[in-house]
Amino acid sequence: MNFESHLENIKKTDPEMYDWILKEIDRQKYTLELIPSECITSPSVLEALGSVFTNKYSEGYPGKRYYGGNQFVDEIEKLTQERAKKIFEVEHVNVQPYSGSPANFAVYTAVCQPGDIIMGQALTDGGHLTHGSPASATSKYFKSVQYHVTEDGEVDMEEVERLAKENKPKLIWVGTSAYSKILDYKKFAEIADSVGAYLAADIAHIAGMVAGGSHPSPVNNVHIMTTTTHKTLRGPRGGMIMVTKKGLEKDEDLAKKIDSAIFPQLQGGPHNHQIAAIGVALAEAMKPDFRDYAKQIVKNAKALAQELISLGMKVIGGGTDTHLMLVDCGKGRGVFFQDALDVAGITLNKNTIPKDPSSPFYPSGVRLGTPIMTTRGMKEEEMKIVAGWLKRVFDQIAEFDLPEGKKERIAYLRDFQKKIEGNEELKKIREEVKELCQKFGIY
Ligand SMILES: Cc1ncc(COP(=O)(O)O)c(C=O)c1O
Repeated sequence: MNFESHLENIKKTDPEMYDWILKEIDRQKYTLELIPSECITSPSVLEALGSVFTNKYSEGYPGKRYYGGNQFVDEIEKLTQERAKKIFEVEHVNVQPYSGSPANFAVYTAVCQPGDIIMGQALTDGGHLTHGSPASATSKYFKSVQYHVTEDGEVDMEEVERLAKENKPKLIWVGTSAYSKILDYKKFAEIADSVGAYLAADIAHIAGMVAGGSHPSPVNNVHIMTTTTHKTLRGPRGGMIMVTKKGLEKDEDLAKKIDSAIFPQLQGGPHNHQIAAIGVALAEAMKPDFRDYAKQIVKNAKALAQELISLGMKVIGGGTDTHLMLVDCGKGRGVFFQDALDVAGITLNKNTIPKDPSSPFYPSGVRLGTPIMTTRGMKEEEMKIVAGWLKRVFDQIAEFDLPEGKKERIAYLRDFQKKIEGNEELKKIREEVKELCQKFGIY
Protein backbone atom coordinates (compact mmCIF):
# COMPACT_ATOMS: atom_id res chain seq x y z
CA MET A 1 0.00 0.00 0.00
CA ASN A 2 1.30 3.42 -0.91
CA PHE A 3 0.61 5.61 2.09
CA GLU A 4 2.04 8.68 0.43
CA SER A 5 -0.67 8.81 -2.23
CA HIS A 6 -3.31 7.96 0.38
CA LEU A 7 -2.28 11.04 2.38
CA GLU A 8 -1.66 13.57 -0.36
CA ASN A 9 -4.35 16.01 0.82
CA ILE A 10 -3.47 16.03 4.47
CA LYS A 11 0.17 16.51 3.49
CA LYS A 12 -0.81 19.87 1.97
CA THR A 13 -3.49 21.01 4.41
CA ASP A 14 -2.03 19.90 7.74
CA PRO A 15 1.67 19.07 7.47
CA GLU A 16 2.01 18.87 11.25
CA MET A 17 -0.57 16.08 11.55
CA TYR A 18 0.81 14.44 8.38
CA ASP A 19 4.22 14.14 10.06
CA TRP A 20 2.75 12.38 13.08
CA ILE A 21 0.87 9.96 10.84
CA LEU A 22 4.08 9.14 8.97
CA LYS A 23 5.89 8.58 12.26
CA GLU A 24 3.18 6.18 13.41
CA ILE A 25 3.33 4.34 10.07
CA ASP A 26 7.07 3.86 10.58
CA ARG A 27 6.58 2.74 14.17
CA GLN A 28 4.06 0.12 13.08
CA LYS A 29 6.23 -0.97 10.15
CA TYR A 30 9.59 -1.31 11.87
CA THR A 31 8.79 -2.49 15.38
CA LEU A 32 7.30 -5.74 16.55
CA GLU A 33 3.87 -5.40 18.14
CA LEU A 34 3.06 -8.16 20.61
CA ILE A 35 0.06 -6.54 22.29
CA PRO A 36 -2.63 -9.23 21.87
CA SER A 37 -5.56 -6.81 21.72
CA GLU A 38 -4.24 -5.09 18.61
CA CYS A 39 -4.15 -6.02 14.94
CA ILE A 40 -3.40 -4.57 11.50
CA THR A 41 -6.50 -3.94 9.39
CA SER A 42 -6.47 -4.43 5.64
CA PRO A 43 -6.23 -1.47 3.21
CA SER A 44 -9.90 -2.11 2.31
CA VAL A 45 -10.95 -1.67 5.94
CA LEU A 46 -8.94 1.57 6.10
CA GLU A 47 -10.60 2.81 2.91
CA ALA A 48 -14.12 2.15 4.24
CA LEU A 49 -13.15 3.87 7.49
CA GLY A 50 -12.01 6.91 5.55
CA SER A 51 -15.16 6.99 3.42
CA VAL A 52 -17.89 9.64 3.09
CA PHE A 53 -20.17 7.64 5.40
CA THR A 54 -18.54 9.65 8.20
CA ASN A 55 -20.54 12.67 6.98
CA LYS A 56 -23.97 11.22 7.69
CA TYR A 57 -26.29 11.36 10.70
CA SER A 58 -28.65 8.40 11.03
CA GLU A 59 -30.04 8.09 14.57
CA GLY A 60 -32.29 5.05 14.72
CA TYR A 61 -32.12 1.76 12.87
CA PRO A 62 -32.54 0.68 9.20
CA GLY A 63 -36.00 1.77 7.98
CA LYS A 64 -36.62 3.73 11.22
CA ARG A 65 -34.37 6.79 11.14
CA TYR A 66 -34.78 10.26 12.58
CA TYR A 67 -32.98 11.83 9.59
CA GLY A 68 -33.55 11.72 5.84
CA GLY A 69 -31.05 10.57 3.23
CA ASN A 70 -30.30 7.24 4.83
CA GLN A 71 -31.13 4.90 1.96
CA PHE A 72 -27.49 3.82 1.59
CA VAL A 73 -26.67 3.91 5.29
CA ASP A 74 -29.57 1.48 5.78
CA GLU A 75 -28.02 -0.89 3.25
CA ILE A 76 -24.54 -0.92 4.81
CA GLU A 77 -25.95 -1.45 8.28
CA LYS A 78 -28.13 -4.37 7.11
CA LEU A 79 -25.26 -5.89 5.14
CA THR A 80 -22.94 -5.70 8.16
CA GLN A 81 -25.61 -7.20 10.42
CA GLU A 82 -26.25 -10.08 8.01
CA ARG A 83 -22.53 -10.88 7.75
CA ALA A 84 -22.13 -10.89 11.53
CA LYS A 85 -25.23 -13.08 11.98
CA LYS A 86 -23.86 -15.61 9.53
CA ILE A 87 -20.34 -15.70 10.96
CA PHE A 88 -21.31 -15.91 14.63
CA GLU A 89 -24.54 -17.90 14.09
CA VAL A 90 -26.72 -15.54 16.10
CA GLU A 91 -30.32 -14.35 15.77
CA HIS A 92 -29.78 -10.62 16.14
CA VAL A 93 -26.85 -8.22 15.93
CA ASN A 94 -26.45 -4.59 16.84
CA VAL A 95 -23.47 -3.11 14.98
CA GLN A 96 -23.79 0.43 16.34
CA PRO A 97 -21.75 0.32 19.60
CA TYR A 98 -18.92 2.83 19.34
CA SER A 99 -16.54 0.33 20.94
CA GLY A 100 -16.34 -2.63 23.33
CA SER A 101 -16.92 -0.72 26.57
CA PRO A 102 -20.12 1.02 25.37
CA ALA A 103 -21.33 -2.34 24.03
CA ASN A 104 -20.90 -3.87 27.47
CA PHE A 105 -22.60 -0.97 29.21
CA ALA A 106 -25.53 -1.40 26.84
CA VAL A 107 -25.88 -5.01 28.02
CA TYR A 108 -26.21 -3.83 31.63
CA THR A 109 -28.69 -1.18 30.51
CA ALA A 110 -30.77 -3.77 28.67
CA VAL A 111 -31.01 -6.46 31.34
CA CYS A 112 -30.26 -4.84 34.73
CA GLN A 113 -31.64 -2.12 36.93
CA PRO A 114 -29.27 0.16 38.87
CA GLY A 115 -28.17 -1.63 42.04
CA ASP A 116 -28.67 -5.16 40.66
CA ILE A 117 -26.02 -7.77 41.43
CA ILE A 118 -23.67 -8.69 38.59
CA MET A 119 -20.70 -11.06 38.38
CA GLY A 120 -17.49 -10.92 36.38
CA GLN A 121 -13.87 -12.04 36.36
CA ALA A 122 -11.57 -9.72 38.32
CA LEU A 123 -9.41 -7.40 36.24
CA THR A 124 -6.30 -8.54 38.11
CA ASP A 125 -7.20 -12.12 37.15
CA GLY A 126 -7.61 -11.54 33.42
CA GLY A 127 -11.14 -10.07 33.27
CA HIS A 128 -12.05 -6.69 31.78
CA LEU A 129 -12.70 -3.36 33.52
CA THR A 130 -16.30 -3.31 32.31
CA HIS A 131 -17.09 -6.64 33.99
CA GLY A 132 -17.56 -4.94 37.37
CA SER A 133 -14.03 -3.87 38.28
CA PRO A 134 -13.87 -1.50 41.27
CA ALA A 135 -12.11 0.98 38.95
CA SER A 136 -15.04 0.98 36.50
CA ALA A 137 -18.37 2.83 36.72
CA THR A 138 -20.01 -0.59 36.29
CA SER A 139 -19.23 -1.27 39.97
CA LYS A 140 -20.72 2.09 40.93
CA TYR A 141 -24.08 1.49 39.26
CA PHE A 142 -24.32 -2.25 39.98
CA LYS A 143 -23.34 -4.41 42.93
CA SER A 144 -20.34 -6.24 41.60
CA VAL A 145 -19.18 -9.68 42.71
CA GLN A 146 -15.84 -10.73 41.23
CA TYR A 147 -14.46 -14.22 40.66
CA HIS A 148 -10.83 -15.18 40.30
CA VAL A 149 -8.31 -17.61 38.82
CA THR A 150 -6.34 -20.27 40.61
CA GLU A 151 -2.55 -20.25 40.92
CA ASP A 152 -2.13 -21.99 37.55
CA GLY A 153 -4.20 -19.32 35.83
CA GLU A 154 -7.53 -21.13 35.31
CA VAL A 155 -10.91 -19.72 36.33
CA ASP A 156 -11.85 -21.08 39.74
CA MET A 157 -15.19 -22.65 38.74
CA GLU A 158 -15.95 -23.72 42.31
CA GLU A 159 -15.74 -20.08 43.35
CA VAL A 160 -17.95 -19.03 40.40
CA GLU A 161 -20.60 -21.56 41.45
CA ARG A 162 -20.44 -20.64 45.13
CA LEU A 163 -20.63 -16.88 44.46
CA ALA A 164 -23.51 -17.32 42.01
CA LYS A 165 -25.51 -19.41 44.50
CA GLU A 166 -24.81 -16.96 47.36
CA ASN A 167 -25.48 -13.76 45.41
CA LYS A 168 -28.05 -14.73 42.74
CA PRO A 169 -26.73 -12.22 40.19
CA LYS A 170 -28.89 -10.81 37.41
CA LEU A 171 -26.02 -10.97 34.93
CA ILE A 172 -22.83 -13.04 34.70
CA TRP A 173 -19.95 -12.14 32.36
CA VAL A 174 -17.76 -14.81 30.82
CA GLY A 175 -14.85 -13.45 28.81
CA THR A 176 -11.37 -12.14 29.31
CA SER A 177 -8.62 -9.72 28.37
CA ALA A 178 -5.60 -11.56 29.70
CA TYR A 179 -6.29 -15.28 29.83
CA SER A 180 -4.62 -18.06 27.88
CA LYS A 181 -7.03 -20.98 28.45
CA ILE A 182 -10.33 -21.95 26.88
CA LEU A 183 -13.20 -21.04 29.19
CA ASP A 184 -15.69 -23.71 30.27
CA TYR A 185 -18.77 -22.10 28.69
CA LYS A 186 -20.92 -25.13 29.39
CA LYS A 187 -20.22 -25.02 33.11
CA PHE A 188 -20.83 -21.26 33.14
CA ALA A 189 -24.19 -21.90 31.46
CA GLU A 190 -25.19 -24.52 34.04
CA ILE A 191 -24.33 -22.10 36.85
CA ALA A 192 -26.10 -19.10 35.24
CA ASP A 193 -29.20 -21.18 34.42
CA SER A 194 -29.34 -22.59 37.96
CA VAL A 195 -29.71 -19.07 39.39
CA GLY A 196 -31.74 -17.59 36.52
CA ALA A 197 -28.99 -15.15 35.47
CA TYR A 198 -28.36 -13.77 32.02
CA LEU A 199 -25.02 -15.10 30.75
CA ALA A 200 -23.11 -12.70 28.51
CA ALA A 201 -19.92 -13.78 26.73
CA ASP A 202 -17.49 -10.99 25.97
CA ILE A 203 -15.56 -12.45 23.03
CA ALA A 204 -13.60 -9.26 22.25
CA HIS A 205 -10.22 -10.98 22.35
CA ILE A 206 -11.15 -14.23 20.66
CA ALA A 207 -13.68 -13.03 18.05
CA GLY A 208 -11.28 -13.54 15.12
CA MET A 209 -10.47 -17.04 16.23
CA VAL A 210 -14.15 -17.87 16.79
CA ALA A 211 -14.93 -16.53 13.29
CA GLY A 212 -12.04 -18.48 11.82
CA GLY A 213 -12.83 -21.71 13.66
CA SER A 214 -9.69 -21.92 15.82
CA HIS A 215 -11.47 -21.29 19.13
CA PRO A 216 -14.80 -22.75 20.37
CA SER A 217 -17.76 -20.40 20.21
CA PRO A 218 -19.85 -19.80 23.33
CA VAL A 219 -22.92 -19.14 21.14
CA ASN A 220 -25.00 -22.15 22.27
CA ASN A 221 -24.35 -21.56 25.97
CA VAL A 222 -24.94 -17.85 26.39
CA HIS A 223 -27.80 -15.38 25.95
CA ILE A 224 -25.72 -12.46 24.70
CA MET A 225 -22.31 -12.04 23.07
CA THR A 226 -20.42 -8.77 22.87
CA THR A 227 -17.23 -8.09 21.01
CA THR A 228 -14.87 -5.43 19.87
CA THR A 229 -14.18 -5.52 16.16
CA HIS A 230 -10.55 -4.36 16.19
CA LYS A 231 -8.73 -7.17 17.94
CA THR A 232 -8.26 -10.64 16.37
CA LEU A 233 -11.29 -9.93 14.15
CA ARG A 234 -9.02 -7.42 12.35
CA GLY A 235 -11.60 -4.73 11.70
CA PRO A 236 -11.75 -1.04 12.59
CA ARG A 237 -12.18 0.03 16.22
CA GLY A 238 -15.81 -0.70 17.10
CA GLY A 239 -18.18 -3.01 18.91
CA MET A 240 -21.10 -5.39 18.36
CA ILE A 241 -23.77 -6.94 20.57
CA MET A 242 -25.27 -10.25 19.53
CA VAL A 243 -28.37 -12.00 20.82
CA THR A 244 -28.37 -15.79 20.60
CA LYS A 245 -31.19 -18.29 20.11
CA LYS A 246 -30.86 -19.19 23.78
CA GLY A 247 -31.15 -15.46 24.60
CA LEU A 248 -34.43 -15.11 22.71
CA GLU A 249 -35.76 -18.26 24.37
CA LYS A 250 -35.08 -16.73 27.78
CA ASP A 251 -36.49 -13.33 26.84
CA GLU A 252 -38.33 -12.77 23.55
CA ASP A 253 -37.79 -9.02 23.88
CA LEU A 254 -34.03 -9.26 24.42
CA ALA A 255 -33.08 -8.01 20.93
CA LYS A 256 -35.41 -5.01 21.31
CA LYS A 257 -34.00 -4.28 24.76
CA ILE A 258 -30.42 -4.34 23.42
CA ASP A 259 -31.29 -2.05 20.51
CA SER A 260 -33.08 0.41 22.73
CA ALA A 261 -30.16 0.38 25.22
CA ILE A 262 -27.79 1.47 22.42
CA PHE A 263 -30.21 3.99 20.91
CA PRO A 264 -31.77 6.09 22.38
CA GLN A 265 -30.60 5.18 25.88
CA LEU A 266 -26.81 5.41 25.54
CA GLN A 267 -25.74 6.59 22.12
CA GLY A 268 -26.79 9.08 19.45
CA GLY A 269 -25.91 8.82 15.78
CA PRO A 270 -24.08 5.65 14.69
CA HIS A 271 -20.58 5.95 13.21
CA ASN A 272 -21.50 4.85 9.71
CA HIS A 273 -17.97 4.86 8.30
CA GLN A 274 -17.05 2.51 11.14
CA ILE A 275 -20.02 0.25 10.42
CA ALA A 276 -19.02 0.11 6.72
CA ALA A 277 -15.49 -0.85 7.75
CA ILE A 278 -16.79 -3.52 10.16
CA GLY A 279 -18.78 -4.91 7.22
CA VAL A 280 -15.63 -5.05 5.08
CA ALA A 281 -13.71 -6.82 7.86
CA LEU A 282 -16.54 -9.34 8.26
CA ALA A 283 -16.48 -10.11 4.52
CA GLU A 284 -12.75 -10.76 4.89
CA ALA A 285 -13.43 -13.01 7.89
CA MET A 286 -15.64 -15.21 5.69
CA LYS A 287 -12.79 -15.97 3.27
CA PRO A 288 -10.75 -19.19 3.49
CA ASP A 289 -7.45 -17.37 4.13
CA PHE A 290 -8.95 -15.87 7.29
CA ARG A 291 -9.36 -19.42 8.61
CA ASP A 292 -5.66 -20.01 7.93
CA TYR A 293 -4.81 -16.81 9.81
CA ALA A 294 -7.02 -17.79 12.75
CA LYS A 295 -5.35 -21.19 13.02
CA GLN A 296 -1.88 -19.76 12.62
CA ILE A 297 -2.44 -17.26 15.47
CA VAL A 298 -2.87 -20.19 17.86
CA LYS A 299 -0.05 -22.25 16.34
CA ASN A 300 2.27 -19.26 16.64
CA ALA A 301 1.24 -18.58 20.24
CA LYS A 302 1.84 -22.23 21.19
CA ALA A 303 5.24 -22.21 19.45
CA LEU A 304 6.24 -18.95 21.13
CA ALA A 305 5.18 -20.19 24.57
CA GLN A 306 7.04 -23.49 24.15
CA GLU A 307 10.21 -21.77 23.00
CA LEU A 308 10.06 -19.30 25.89
CA ILE A 309 9.67 -22.19 28.34
CA SER A 310 12.57 -24.05 26.79
CA LEU A 311 14.67 -20.90 27.25
CA GLY A 312 13.83 -20.95 30.96
CA MET A 313 11.09 -18.30 31.08
CA LYS A 314 8.00 -18.78 33.25
CA VAL A 315 4.85 -18.90 31.11
CA ILE A 316 1.74 -18.93 33.32
CA GLY A 317 -0.17 -22.21 33.10
CA GLY A 318 2.72 -23.80 31.18
CA GLY A 319 1.52 -22.67 27.73
CA THR A 320 -1.48 -21.30 25.88
CA ASP A 321 -4.62 -22.43 24.05
CA THR A 322 -5.29 -19.02 22.55
CA HIS A 323 -3.51 -16.06 20.99
CA LEU A 324 -1.83 -14.79 24.13
CA MET A 325 0.20 -15.72 27.17
CA LEU A 326 1.31 -14.22 30.44
CA VAL A 327 4.95 -14.37 31.49
CA ASP A 328 5.98 -14.17 35.14
CA CYS A 329 8.93 -11.75 35.40
CA GLY A 330 9.34 -11.87 39.18
CA LYS A 331 7.77 -9.64 41.84
CA GLY A 332 7.00 -6.15 40.45
CA ARG A 333 9.34 -6.61 37.47
CA GLY A 334 6.87 -6.42 34.55
CA VAL A 335 7.66 -2.74 34.10
CA PHE A 336 11.39 -3.42 33.60
CA PHE A 337 10.69 -5.99 30.92
CA GLN A 338 8.14 -3.78 29.13
CA ASP A 339 10.45 -0.74 29.11
CA ALA A 340 13.56 -2.70 28.07
CA LEU A 341 11.60 -4.33 25.23
CA ASP A 342 10.50 -0.88 24.08
CA VAL A 343 14.16 0.06 23.64
CA ALA A 344 14.63 -3.15 21.64
CA GLY A 345 11.72 -2.29 19.31
CA ILE A 346 9.31 -4.85 20.77
CA THR A 347 5.99 -3.64 22.20
CA LEU A 348 3.96 -5.46 24.81
CA ASN A 349 2.30 -4.56 28.10
CA LYS A 350 3.03 -5.16 31.76
CA ASN A 351 0.25 -7.20 33.35
CA THR A 352 -0.73 -8.75 36.65
CA ILE A 353 -0.27 -12.50 37.00
CA PRO A 354 -2.52 -14.83 39.04
CA LYS A 355 -2.14 -14.10 42.78
CA ASP A 356 0.27 -11.30 41.89
CA PRO A 357 2.56 -10.56 44.85
CA SER A 358 2.90 -6.96 43.64
CA SER A 359 0.39 -4.24 42.66
CA PRO A 360 -1.56 -3.61 39.41
CA PHE A 361 0.60 -0.53 38.68
CA TYR A 362 3.83 -2.46 39.23
CA PRO A 363 2.69 -5.95 38.24
CA SER A 364 4.88 -9.03 38.12
CA GLY A 365 4.20 -10.10 34.56
CA VAL A 366 3.76 -9.14 30.94
CA ARG A 367 1.06 -10.08 28.42
CA LEU A 368 1.99 -10.89 24.86
CA GLY A 369 0.35 -12.40 21.82
CA THR A 370 0.59 -13.24 18.17
CA PRO A 371 -2.26 -11.64 16.11
CA ILE A 372 -0.11 -8.92 14.51
CA MET A 373 2.91 -11.13 13.88
CA THR A 374 0.57 -13.67 12.27
CA THR A 375 -1.08 -10.99 10.13
CA ARG A 376 2.41 -10.01 8.93
CA GLY A 377 2.90 -13.60 7.75
CA MET A 378 5.23 -14.85 10.46
CA LYS A 379 5.13 -18.53 11.37
CA GLU A 380 6.60 -20.92 13.95
CA GLU A 381 10.15 -20.38 12.68
CA GLU A 382 9.94 -16.65 13.36
CA MET A 383 8.40 -17.33 16.79
CA LYS A 384 11.67 -19.02 17.77
CA ILE A 385 13.59 -15.91 16.77
CA VAL A 386 11.20 -13.68 18.72
CA ALA A 387 11.44 -15.90 21.81
CA GLY A 388 15.23 -15.63 21.56
CA TRP A 389 15.00 -11.81 21.56
CA LEU A 390 12.62 -11.83 24.51
CA LYS A 391 15.04 -13.96 26.51
CA ARG A 392 18.01 -11.78 25.58
CA VAL A 393 16.14 -8.66 26.69
CA PHE A 394 15.03 -10.43 29.87
CA ASP A 395 18.68 -11.17 30.67
CA GLN A 396 19.45 -7.46 30.41
CA ILE A 397 17.07 -6.65 33.28
CA ALA A 398 18.30 -9.41 35.60
CA GLU A 399 20.16 -6.99 37.90
CA PHE A 400 17.13 -4.72 38.51
CA ASP A 401 14.75 -5.05 41.46
CA LEU A 402 11.87 -2.75 42.37
CA PRO A 403 12.45 -0.91 45.68
CA GLU A 404 9.62 -1.07 48.24
CA GLY A 405 9.27 2.69 48.89
CA LYS A 406 7.14 4.82 46.53
CA LYS A 407 9.63 7.72 46.23
CA GLU A 408 12.60 5.40 45.83
CA ARG A 409 10.76 3.58 43.03
CA ILE A 410 10.36 6.72 40.92
CA ALA A 411 14.07 7.61 41.18
CA TYR A 412 15.06 3.99 40.58
CA LEU A 413 12.92 3.72 37.45
CA ARG A 414 14.34 7.00 36.09
CA ASP A 415 17.84 5.62 36.55
CA PHE A 416 16.79 2.29 35.01
CA GLN A 417 15.41 4.09 31.96
CA LYS A 418 18.70 5.92 31.42
CA LYS A 419 20.66 2.71 31.69
CA ILE A 420 18.54 0.74 29.24
CA GLU A 421 18.47 3.54 26.70
CA GLY A 422 22.25 3.25 26.48
CA ASN A 423 22.29 -0.56 26.51
CA GLU A 424 24.23 -1.84 23.47
CA GLU A 425 22.62 -5.32 23.46
CA LEU A 426 19.13 -3.77 23.33
CA LYS A 427 20.19 -1.50 20.45
CA LYS A 428 21.56 -4.51 18.59
CA ILE A 429 18.29 -6.41 19.07
CA ARG A 430 16.40 -3.35 17.78
CA GLU A 431 18.33 -3.57 14.52
CA GLU A 432 17.62 -7.30 14.21
CA VAL A 433 13.92 -6.66 14.91
CA LYS A 434 13.83 -3.99 12.20
CA GLU A 435 15.36 -6.39 9.72
CA LEU A 436 12.71 -9.03 10.37
CA CYS A 437 9.94 -6.42 10.21
CA GLN A 438 11.20 -5.34 6.78
CA LYS A 439 10.82 -8.91 5.57
CA PHE A 440 7.26 -9.15 6.94
CA GLY A 441 5.61 -5.84 6.01
CA ILE A 442 2.30 -4.59 7.37
CA TYR A 443 0.83 -3.63 3.97
C1 LIG B 1 -12.64 -8.50 26.89
C2 LIG B 1 -12.75 -7.05 26.53
N1 LIG B 1 -13.95 -6.47 26.52
C3 LIG B 1 -14.12 -5.18 26.23
C4 LIG B 1 -13.05 -4.38 25.90
C5 LIG B 1 -13.28 -2.92 25.69
O1 LIG B 1 -13.10 -2.51 24.42
P1 LIG B 1 -12.81 -0.98 24.07
O2 LIG B 1 -11.41 -0.72 24.50
O3 LIG B 1 -13.02 -0.96 22.60
O4 LIG B 1 -13.80 -0.15 24.80
C6 LIG B 1 -11.77 -4.95 25.86
C7 LIG B 1 -10.63 -4.11 25.49
O5 LIG B 1 -9.51 -4.34 25.74
C8 LIG B 1 -11.61 -6.31 26.21
O6 LIG B 1 -10.41 -6.89 26.24
